[in-house]
Amino acid sequence: IEETLVLVKPDGVARNLTGEILRRIEAKGYSLVDLKLVQADRDLLAKHYAEHEGKPFYEPLVEFMESGPVVAMRIAGNRVIEGFRSLAGATDPTTAAPGTIRGDFGRDWGLKVQQNLVHGSDSVESAERELALWFA
Ligand code: GTP
Ligand code: MG
Repeated sequence: IEETLVLVKPDGVARNLTGEILRRIEAKGYSLVDLKLVQADRDLLAKHYAEHEGKPFYEPLVEFMESGPVVAMRIAGNRVIEGFRSLAGATDPTTAAPGTIRGDFGRDWGLKVQQNLVHGSDSVESAERELALWFA
């Protein structure tokens, strides 16, 4: 069975959306395998976002991700990687489709980083790498 890493980012935790996000994942039929509240440190975030190092939004992104606790979830199901990214919606919350997590609850707050509530692994390789980082 395929697994993915879902993170409820600090904005989602602060806005008390963790339950709503997990509800959507469970309602879709995916299974919760493991879950924890984590204060991520720079070392973990640098590894998690290694592919974005050097991009203009990298530093604000890491600062945002260490600004408060995140909820890390291990979620399982056939094709859950693409399935969760479909539930999450497009990266930019302003234009993410209504009906998606980002489209229903996200917006542009005028900040340097897109605060878009959730992260989901984008491939089998990313999922394995990220799950090993967050659930070592
Ligand atoms: P994740 O599930 O969080 O990885 O989102 P994603 O796969 O849709 O986006 P991506 O991996 O490309 O980027 C990671 C995160 O960096 C995004 O979720 C945004 O928070 C932020 N980000 C990505 N692209 C931009 C951008 O062009 N501008 C800004 N300000 N932030 C960005
Ligand atoms: Mg990504």
